[in-house]
Amino acid sequence: MKKFIDLITEEVTAAFEQAGYDPKYGKVTLSNRPDLCEYQCNGAMAAAKAYRKAPAMIAGDVVAHLQESAVFSTAEAVNPGFINLRVNPEYLSGYLNQMLADERLSVDKVQEPKTIILDYGGPNVAKPLHVGHLRSAIIGESIKRMGKFLGHRMIGDVHLGDWGLQMGLIITELQERQPQLVYFDESFTGDYPQEAPFTIGELEEIYPAASARSKEDEEYKNRAMDATHQLQQGRRGYMALWKQIMNVSVTDLKKNYRRLDVDFDLWKGESDADAYIPAMVERLKEGGYAYEDQGALVVDVKEETDTKEIPPCMILKSDGASLYTTTDLATLVQRMEDYHPDEILYVVDKRQELHFIQVFRCAKKTGIVDEDTKLSFLGFGTMNGKDGKPFKTREGGVMRLERLLSEITEEMYQKIVSNRSVKEEDASKTAEMVALSAVKYGDLSNQASKDYVFDTERFTSFEGNTGPYILYTVVRIKSILSRFAEGGGDASLGSLLPAAGQGEKALMLLLSGFNAMVENAFEEKAPHKICSYIYEVANAFNSFYHETKILSQEDETRKASYIRLLVLARDVLETSVELLGFAAPEKM
Ligand code: ARG
Repeated sequence: MKKFIDLITEEVTAAFEQAGYDPKYGKVTLSNRPDLCEYQCNGAMAAAKAYRKAPAMIAGDVVAHLQESAVFSTAEAVNPGFINLRVNPEYLSGYLNQMLADERLSVDKVQEPKTIILDYGGPNVAKPLHVGHLRSAIIGESIKRMGKFLGHRMIGDVHLGDWGLQMGLIITELQERQPQLVYFDESFTGDYPQEAPFTIGELEEIYPAASARSKEDEEYKNRAMDATHQLQQGRRGYMALWKQIMNVSVTDLKKNYRRLDVDFDLWKGESDADAYIPAMVERLKEGGYAYEDQGALVVDVKEETDTKEIPPCMILKSDGASLYTTTDLATLVQRMEDYHPDEILYVVDKRQELHFIQVFRCAKKTGIVDEDTKLSFLGFGTMNGKDGKPFKTREGGVMRLERLLSEITEEMYQKIVSNRSVKEEDASKTAEMVALSAVKYGDLSNQASKDYVFDTERFTSFEGNTGPYILYTVVRIKSILSRFAEGGGDASLGSLLPAAGQGEKALMLLLSGFNAMVENAFEEKAPHKICSYIYEVANAFNSFYHETKILSQEDETRKASYIRLLVLARDVLETSVELLGFAAPEKM
């Protein structure tokens, strides 16, 4: 379906033309004075220069041609030359009836779908998922859902950190603790045990212990680096152990992501890129891109227009070991081979921006990535506690994702149970759904690149700009609809009448902007735009609800019209919430 704002613009454009002016001046925007009008066109001001006429005269000429328009109820020229517009309620309800009849709620699929790889999540194997990884998962998931909804081929890749020093550290620490394990016996040629020699709990304790010791003990750290190197060379016992670590850790990660309702198409990682490294390095050398600098292999990536220094991209360390840059470049080789995507978008902490500038430039310069594949970086800010420092537990430790979710769920459970509107057995499920909305909406309602404060009290409130408030509104609509159904009503019948009141019209105008909002939010990779939109819709719905008798309405066609409006508002809100990555319960 065409966008409502475009239909309006077409009408005004035609009026400019009829009045003898260039139609390009007919662009319409939402009014910034809602007290005066709903939409406005400022084109007469710009046209004034070209035509050497007073803007008010031009505006007057144009509105003369809009008086009979079916689109507007009023079109006024006001000084110094604005055109103020109000939409004809009948035209508006007609548009919304089309939306209701469209199963995609007016949002068309794109004409030319793109293949877009989304690199998000990025957890590190054997390290517990903490809130730092939360943002990537939440933001990436929402962008993936938006793209899919618009018809793009979105491929989400978790890109595990599974190949670096943390692996060598774990291996070294395990050898300290259990030197008798067969994995360390180089003469062993049989099959390794099925069972992992540790649980996830132990694994998560082993890593921090190893990491702490390596900071104090030089010899230990060297052993860990050596173990990493041997693993990467394919030492048999280490590979077997690595697989065990992967199994145990990935099982746990999957459980956590499921709880977050975050779902990846690919579970690839840094280790998958390893096989692509040797050929890539050769290619960089042969192409004359890579050169040796103090033993290391580097590629220059600075550009003349740089205002700050962009250091060379390091491909191999002097000992031949690969780095974060190396695996990211090799992963690009792999992704180009496997998918030849139109775009690869990374959702990563903004502190890694320099790394991605280097990787992108190097990939483009050396032809690893084609001209026509776009590489984008969506860097997000830090999630802070109320003290303005990175979010911690009450005791000051690193907050694990599981614990955060459990605490918020518990909080929601208490609130829901005290409301007594939900049966005991449904309360935990409902609490989980509402908790997820609190966490995700709390995050997504901020512009991604900004740091934000995770304020549990505010995020879990049923009032204000929060996930629970949005869900509460959806549930309110659902409960009116189910009372209507209980009374024998059929919410699929009837159609919208032109709005009878101001609140109703305001809600309708907002709903008509749904497709434009979704397209724009995806275009700008900005889930926060969906949040501000649904917050406005929820507010508009609640005002309408408070000023309107819905179920007790005597006029049956009017009542049916209200019910249809509720259906549309519910569908728009639920679709939006789905795009953000959570869902509304039936009751709460
Ligand atoms: N594992 C990394 C980290 O924890 C994030 C990975 C981001 N993706 C990438 N392709 N580098 O910082």
